[in-house]
Amino acid sequence: MFVTVFLLLVALCAHGGNGLEEEAARGPGHVSVIIVGGTGDLAKKYLWQGFFQLYLHQAGGGNTFSFYGGGLSPAEKATPLLFEILKTVSCSKDVSPERCALLKEQFLRLSQYRQLKTLEDYQELAKQIEEQLQQEGMVEAGRLFYLSVPAFAYADIAEKINSSCRPTSGAWLRVVLEKPFGHDYRSAQVLSTQLGNSLKEEEMYRIDHYLGKQVVSKILPFRKENQRFLEPIWNRHHIERIEIVLKETLDVKGRIPFYDQYGVIRDVLQNHLTEVMMLLTMKLPQNLSSSDEVLRNKLEMLNSLLPLGKNQAVIGQYQAYKEEVQKELNRTQDRVSHTPTFAAVVAHIHDAQYEGVPILLISGKMLDERVGYARVLFKNNVFCLQNHNNVHCKPKQIVFYFGHGSLGYPAVLVSKNLFKPAGTDALWKEVTDHKDVDVLGLSVSDYNVQVPAVNKEAYAELISHIFAGRKNSFVSTEILLASWALWTPLLNSLSSIFPRIYPGGSDNEAMLDVHLKGKEIKYNSEVVIISPDEMGGASPSSYQVMKGKFRSAEMVSAWMEDLIERLAADIQGAAEAAVHQGGVFHLALSGGSTPLALFHRLALHHFSFPWRDTHVWMVDERCVPPTEPDSNFRSLHEHLLQHIKIPYYNIHPMPVQLNQRLCVEEDRGALLYEEELKKLVNGSSFHFILLGVGYDGHTASLFPGGKLDHHGESLVALTESPTKPHQRMSLTLGAINRAHKVAVLVMGKGKHELVTQLSRTTENLLRYPVTGVNPANGSLAWYIDYDALLG
Ligand code: BG6
Repeated sequence: MFVTVFLLLVALCAHGGNGLEEEAARGPGHVSVIIVGGTGDLAKKYLWQGFFQLYLHQAGGGNTFSFYGGGLSPAEKATPLLFEILKTVSCSKDVSPERCALLKEQFLRLSQYRQLKTLEDYQELAKQIEEQLQQEGMVEAGRLFYLSVPAFAYADIAEKINSSCRPTSGAWLRVVLEKPFGHDYRSAQVLSTQLGNSLKEEEMYRIDHYLGKQVVSKILPFRKENQRFLEPIWNRHHIERIEIVLKETLDVKGRIPFYDQYGVIRDVLQNHLTEVMMLLTMKLPQNLSSSDEVLRNKLEMLNSLLPLGKNQAVIGQYQAYKEEVQKELNRTQDRVSHTPTFAAVVAHIHDAQYEGVPILLISGKMLDERVGYARVLFKNNVFCLQNHNNVHCKPKQIVFYFGHGSLGYPAVLVSKNLFKPAGTDALWKEVTDHKDVDVLGLSVSDYNVQVPAVNKEAYAELISHIFAGRKNSFVSTEILLASWALWTPLLNSLSSIFPRIYPGGSDNEAMLDVHLKGKEIKYNSEVVIISPDEMGGASPSSYQVMKGKFRSAEMVSAWMEDLIERLAADIQGAAEAAVHQGGVFHLALSGGSTPLALFHRLALHHFSFPWRDTHVWMVDERCVPPTEPDSNFRSLHEHLLQHIKIPYYNIHPMPVQLNQRLCVEEDRGALLYEEELKKLVNGSSFHFILLGVGYDGHTASLFPGGKLDHHGESLVALTESPTKPHQRMSLTLGAINRAHKVAVLVMGKGKHELVTQLSRTTENLLRYPVTGVNPANGSLAWYIDYDALLG
């Protein structure tokens, strides 16, 4: 059955710049629109509505249309789905209900589903289009394929289109592609080459939906209209910095298989924010409608950026992301994803106009609000002695506000202390009557505000541009590759960096604030710890930590992961306090397998810990060479020390091997360690000692039946273990009990029996050396996981 084509006599709506110039030159004709992936999410949400809008505007303009939803499913299955979607398209308020109903009915009649799987399916489609043209005696204007499918399918579909669906001479072919366009420079190049084998550059329309946002597409016209105000100040002498920001409140649940491979830099910064940066800083084209000139100037700007290295970025990951990855990718608990869900990057342009002006590109998921904007902040050298509310004392800025946020709608805002923008564009209007909200430090009333006369959806805008063949709102191959060339080295250098973990929403507080130093960017606070206390008691479930008493001392209990999180936070708290007070933190760590999870956690979040000012000491050591797997130092090195930035001279392994022999009394290793300790640690009091406890009740290398009371005043002693290797070196109870803080970490079901015994026992050094841990002037806390506590 052929689709009936309507040559509509409905009056054409007024619609600025819809490409009629181009179509008129060639004369109207028939246009076939094919959405491959026509029942998918994007099509459902934006594309059909966008094409309906195109139809609304073009109906009556002489062109005729047919619309195809294509997909892999057979027609019987997908046709009802497609029509469910089509029924939801709607008209804007300026279209009367009667006209809307009429056009919608026509749109539905012009649309159909086709299975597009094999080459034959595409050949059949071409045949149908041609037969229809012939039967109805129509001239073909063009074919528009919108590939709303995963990128891996692009090359294959492009080849099928090329070999079987090209229109007959004179008519155009336009193939629209959605990001991701590669994963890095190499893959983008491969994809471009593959597509280039089937399609010409002018036939490809790579969508970046930010270019369809009204405020984004207003940037160049705004710069042009206000050239006389801007030219003198659009440079490094006047611009303080440029910020391009997209903050989102949502997480990426449900999108993890895609997102975990991309992350925020690839998802948002490489494309959307880079496009905005180009529009703000490129040389202003003489002719804004010349795609060649616009794309050329963009490319020139991209090429003049200084390379981005890891000091030009900070990254973060929201707390719950890890669990989402485990769930959606079926990964084990140990799987650590480095994928950033937040990034702040500073870029610099290497040219006379912008030299030294920082350009910040920031985006993240699970932030406190949803808002997008680009702000050009100007220097303000006026110092106001008295009236700070005077307009001259306030920030001077131009804000391209993409939408949402406190304002709630897209707008261009120019602070009144700059200039009153020209109002030459009929599609924009000035607003003077607005609610009094604060927009980036200024009340709206301190701005001249312009808003679009009619709000338009980005996809609908871009679809009208594709129809008009206007290429300047799309991403050319050259720009795509230049953008990847900029971002790929940064992505590579960040791949081994652990993102800062943030809790999400307003709990992030100042944690993601950044500051600029020279050409570098850093988190403003070096210290980030999310602890239940800091979360005001309203702990999310991942922080279910219980506090209580154990053997009259403080006890913290939780499931293992949370317990480790809490212990790490407490150690960090102690470290910060000590460094703040005396510039140094002395930490003694025990060996064995229990603390490994803690070491892993500390290594993962090493960036926020004051390792530079921390001295790491050992609680005990086995008398084996440090190269042996049994060596506590080797394990400490492997699991922690090699992952953190700590000065070598702050690391204090126990000298168990001296004179090429192990733990011989005469070599005085224990004494050496004690002397080092006395010399460096104030009052020989460690700030924090981490202990474990063995099944037999031993702690450090102080074993049941050992002569603990013989240690006297010694701080370090050679001891004996009932298990191999028998010889040990250990801090004594005397040293342990001088510490400011001692933590005993107990984990695993296997320790339940011991925990039960300990809970009932008073001090019994012979049987349970751990019961002798009782800091004289410091505090003791037991960290017991639920398995050990409850069995
Ligand atoms: C998309 C990204 O391209 O842009 C999303 O894949 C992001 O992760 C979205 O949420 C943001 O677009 P907008 O229009 O909501 O600002």
